[in-house]
Amino acid sequence: MTKVVLIPGDGIGPAITNSVKRVLEAAGADVTWEVHEAGEQTIATHGDPLPEHVVQAIAETGVALKGPITTPVGKGFSSVNVRLRRQLDLYANLRPVRSIPGTRSRYENVDIVVVRENTEGLYSGIEHEVVPGVIESLKIMTRQACTRIARFAFEHAREHGREKVTAVHKANIMKLADGLFLDCFYEVAREYSDIKAEDCIVDAACMKLVLDPHQFDVVVMENLYGDILSDLCAGLVGGLGVTPGANIGEKIAVFEAVHGSAPDIAGRDLANPTAILLTACLMLRHIDQGDVADRVVDAIVACLEAGTKTGDLGGKASTTQFTDALVAKVS
Ligand code: NAI
Repeated sequence: MTKVVLIPGDGIGPAITNSVKRVLEAAGADVTWEVHEAGEQTIATHGDPLPEHVVQAIAETGVALKGPITTPVGKGFSSVNVRLRRQLDLYANLRPVRSIPGTRSRYENVDIVVVRENTEGLYSGIEHEVVPGVIESLKIMTRQACTRIARFAFEHAREHGREKVTAVHKANIMKLADGLFLDCFYEVAREYSDIKAEDCIVDAACMKLVLDPHQFDVVVMENLYGDILSDLCAGLVGGLGVTPGANIGEKIAVFEAVHGSAPDIAGRDLANPTAILLTACLMLRHIDQGDVADRVVDAIVACLEAGTKTGDLGGKASTTQFTDALVAKVS
């Protein structure tokens, strides 16, 4: 049995993570859940949406599945997700973007892996007012972080039988910062002669992705470009409701769907659990239970193709009905 920390989160989080528990149990996953609250509940009980003992629990088990957590607006709390990434040094954001049969989207057969550097760039949060009306926001790029994210991308490519890694950058304008990123990328690429390495300027990459996403395989980039392009890529295959994600460090991995807590539909049995289920499948592969993940993915595709889908995908099924159908398929 692999112990996994489960953080249901808030909003639709408890409903969709409950769906994960039911489907994984029915599929025979060898997992025990160590459930920890975080989010709105722990603001009330601990004065913090991410109490220290939750971070400790993840650090000890090394694997967590996390539901969405609302970021309270203007109450002095920073995003739980940003804190988790920083505190646990989850430096790589991994977003496999794959077309799912049975889901309406602009393209078919898209299969791209977006790798985003999670710890620095313009998201370092170092800003100050130089004089009134003039702000400086610093973009931090280090050789160490650029090298390890490039290596992560190539390792992922090799491990998953992929052929090409594309570095996305703006080194023509940010010659030093993105120039360093590009140098590190090509330096690492030399160690992976079995995988093709190329680069593309970020604006051109956006256009190419929209014109013909099939020309991309693994793409790697710094924080801000990664934030933007990963959502763009999600849009190519049907949106946030069907896109899984993970934040990965040297020894710890936190798996989470990319959508938020959807307060507008929380508590109404309307949420689509597909993204968190696909996320759970990523987690299963990470803990060497890929056979269970394959069964769950097959069940999701079968249900969607048969028209059993939630409202956001144009169907009529509730969260419970969709989950019941999946449980019946994987059992
Ligand atoms: P959101 O992703 O929660 O919702 C955007 C729209 O998509 C809403 O109409 C919602 O109903 C719909 N939606 C999202 N997930 C869905 C699902 N699984 N099934 C059906 N419909 C779904 O984004 P929003 O409204 O910007 O953020 C709400 C809260 O979530 C904010 O406090 C935000 O900070 C937080 N958030 C948390 C994240 C996390 O914990 N990883 C990620 C993104 C946002």
